[in-house]
Amino acid sequence: MSKITIFDHPLIQHKLAILRDEKTGSKQFRELISEIAMLMCYEATRDLELEDVEITTPMCKTQAKMLAGRKLAFVPILRAGCGMLDAMLEMVPAAKVGHIGLYRDEETHQPVEYYNKLPNDINERDVFVLDPMLATGGSAVDAITIIKRSNPRSIKFLCIIAAPEGIEVLSEAHPDVQIFCAAKDSHLNENCYIVPGLGDAGDRIYGTK
Ligand code: PRP
Ligand code: URA
Repeated sequence: MSKITIFDHPLIQHKLAILRDEKTGSKQFRELISEIAMLMCYEATRDLELEDVEITTPMCKTQAKMLAGRKLAFVPILRAGCGMLDAMLEMVPAAKVGHIGLYRDEETHQPVEYYNKLPNDINERDVFVLDPMLATGGSAVDAITIIKRSNPRSIKFLCIIAAPEGIEVLSEAHPDVQIFCAAKDSHLNENCYIVPGLGDAGDRIYGTK
């Protein structure tokens, strides 16, 4: 079973309430996705290793700590995962970026792959897969299966809203992948949308509906 972390931080919960609201327009929706991703990044990178370095302040030489040589890669699942990417890169500008394009077939709800470009050295990296929505879990499972073919050092999955069904499917398929989310919602509806959820994340980010 995957380890799951649900962020109950008041700032995240407050922003999530506005994000869910049907009256929130695309501009504010994008800003909120970004802000929540930045706060999640802060917590999800808590276990990065540090190393001692010597620096010189205007006053004297001193010991300080910097990130040890661990390399990261961020992999958004297109389209909606891209909404989380810039905030993650603000926090870790040295991370490399891969993209996996998947969309859910409207009838079957199964993910269909249409794009895949990962960093060449992903086998030396800790990977953070980004997608605001974990619904049936099909997209996350497929994206992580694709990434695992390149043997990354580790994989974490960061989403904003997760359905219990998706958590179970992802945990069973990839028990080694730690899951981070801001909320575990009630259930999926008959169209496999998360309830209460926030609707279609990609459409709300890009204003396509
Ligand atoms: C959404 C979402 C996830 C997927 C989750 O993408 O961003 O990738 O659905 O559903 P699942 O857990 O049931 O697979 P969508 O397929 O709508 O594509 P889009 O981001 O291009 O809108
Ligand atoms: N994809 C979304 O964008 N929203 C859902 O509720 C489920 C899948």
